[in-house]
Amino acid sequence: MSYYAEYMNSIENPHEFWAEKAADLPWYKAPQTILSTDENGIQRWFADGEMNTTYMALDYHVESGRGDQDALIYDSPVTGVKRRLSYREMRDEVAKFAGVLKAQGVKKGDRVVIYMPMVPEALIAMYAVARLGAIHSVVFGGFAPHELAVRIDDAEPKVIVSTSCGVEVSKVIEYKPMLDQAIELSAHKPNACIILQREQARAELTAGRDIDWSEAMASAEPADCVPVKGTDPLYILYTSGTTGKPKGVVRDNGGHAVAMKYSMKAIYDMEPGDVFWAASDVGWVVGHSYIVYAPLLAGCTTIVYEGKPVRTPDAGAFWRVCEEYGAKALFAAPTAFRAIKKEDPDAALLQNYDLSSVKTIFMAGERLDPPTYDWTVEKTGKPVIDHWWQTETGWAICGNLMGVEPKAPKPGSATLPVPGFNVKILDSEGRELPPGEQGAIAIKLPLPPSCLPTVWGDFERFRTGYLSDFPGYYTSGDGGYKDEDGYVFIMGRTDDVINVAGHRLSTGEMEEIVAAHPAVAECAVIGIADSLKGQAPVGLVLLKDGVEIDEEQLQGELVAMVRKEIGPIACFQRALVVQRLPKTRSGKILRKLLRQIADGQSYTVPSTIDDPASLEEIEAIMDSHGLVARG
Ligand code: COA
Ligand code: AMP
Repeated sequence: MSYYAEYMNSIENPHEFWAEKAADLPWYKAPQTILSTDENGIQRWFADGEMNTTYMALDYHVESGRGDQDALIYDSPVTGVKRRLSYREMRDEVAKFAGVLKAQGVKKGDRVVIYMPMVPEALIAMYAVARLGAIHSVVFGGFAPHELAVRIDDAEPKVIVSTSCGVEVSKVIEYKPMLDQAIELSAHKPNACIILQREQARAELTAGRDIDWSEAMASAEPADCVPVKGTDPLYILYTSGTTGKPKGVVRDNGGHAVAMKYSMKAIYDMEPGDVFWAASDVGWVVGHSYIVYAPLLAGCTTIVYEGKPVRTPDAGAFWRVCEEYGAKALFAAPTAFRAIKKEDPDAALLQNYDLSSVKTIFMAGERLDPPTYDWTVEKTGKPVIDHWWQTETGWAICGNLMGVEPKAPKPGSATLPVPGFNVKILDSEGRELPPGEQGAIAIKLPLPPSCLPTVWGDFERFRTGYLSDFPGYYTSGDGGYKDEDGYVFIMGRTDDVINVAGHRLSTGEMEEIVAAHPAVAECAVIGIADSLKGQAPVGLVLLKDGVEIDEEQLQGELVAMVRKEIGPIACFQRALVVQRLPKTRSGKILRKLLRQIADGQSYTVPSTIDDPASLEEIEAIMDSHGLVARG
């Protein structure tokens, strides 16, 4: 099958195309209605299908003879532990933990927050929630208590599953005090917290609320899969928007399972029994889709790696894991490869390992810069596939379909639209732009299976944030262009979202925190180019009249505030005092211009600017601090 035939079929005959893909999964009751419209006017997939995601990913494989195959390989260089769980063992652990949750009253539609590092129990908890038809919301471990509290208040979980600690290279991060603090901060209180005790730091349990994971598992009654509809939610995953309040991206059970299963063959060229390794974290969408769900829906083995690309113990860590477990695909963020390249520029450590099992390396999460692409291709000799996606879609919007018809890659491009995604480049009036011209990247509705149908508890935010810019289209928030061959080039966000080490963060949220400092009158936080992490946030700060404060002291205080409120992953390390910020006559800070200056792009001075001289002044200040990208 050629790529174009597959793609055009998905766009011209979406019902038939997705009905056929859905038939590849073991539903309890196969969907008859492929696409229908919900009460909000949103088109939804497989509304009358009956299923259970955990059944499809675990029980079904045990029943069909895959019980003894490894479902999960846990490799933790930070603790020295390695462990394998077969499909049968995984199903049994999941069923038992579902029993633990059921005993706490968790039932279909209830929410369960999971705040855990990269341990098998995180996956067991996710699958157990799905088994009961409940909805999980996993919160990344690098987020501070305040961020966890915001998510607890929005999702209102009946139960929270967490752990005593995580291990970051050699630092033990105690999770339990952060969880306690978050629950203190949140208005909503869970009925119970289930805590996995890890020996690196055991936690004190709160009587009457906390339950020890192992003790509960020892006496648990296994629970059966609860059938749900295709459109019932599987999970909520919060992601950064342009304000301080994260958006709860909702994922349906049915569309998700179909897209995940289809993508494993079409995009990643994986067959049942193959080993797939996504070196991400269960707290991010890549982790949800390609560590937890897709590999097991496809009967593959997934690797759960609790370590870094470097320092655990060295820049050969990725190559070691690929060799040891015979990974066929490696999927990671470009930052990880930049970190390896920085420590081992000649890839000398690669010589110690046999990478013959690896067929393809996939990258996503942030822009894949051509030097990192070239380095990885040259050193590994493997095809490197850049693919573009978002938390909102749950899978790639553009990529190179390795299991359909691999296309010649073009460095800097995420290749071609994935089947189901009708990708258009639009100008500000919503007109389609010709090849080579840059505009907003939008997707013509309907979105394919797995994409969000709403923002949790806030349909209006979904409508205004994604559907109202261009009627009939979903706005991605990214800008870019297509070339003459239809290849898509992603040039970056057009809003206040930045991408630091493959982690999506909101500069608007950082601004709210920085502006709360008593010395600060106003501020703008922008992303500047960073050679390791892709982007890094920098604050441009205007002091209140008459305030005198040492700039270094102020920077230290602002850094500590952002770290406390968002967490260490914000990587907010620089704040610069400026005399003026460029604004419109109505007082709006011209953030886009600041971003263009930082990116070293040429810009047009808008007619609405209040004080044109402020632009030159700020450019000179940023330049003198090395904050303007060159070349
Ligand atoms: N729990 C607690 N803290 C965490 C954490 C977690 N799960 N993950 C990161 N942190 C902390 C780190 O310890 C560090 O804290 P510090 O400031 O006290 O040192 C801070 O957050 C920043 O972490 P990170 O951005 O990971 O920087 P690093 O210097 O430790 O590592 C890389 C750099 C490039 C190795 C690392 O960022 C990396 O592996 N990136 C790939 C990211 C990725 O896979 N993204 C998924 C998208 S697909
Ligand atoms: P997240 O929702 O955390 O996955 O982040 C999604 C955002 O990351 C996108 O909107 C892009 O800005 C960026 N992104 C993801 N993958 C790519 C890619 N392959 N190339 C360029 N940017 C990417």
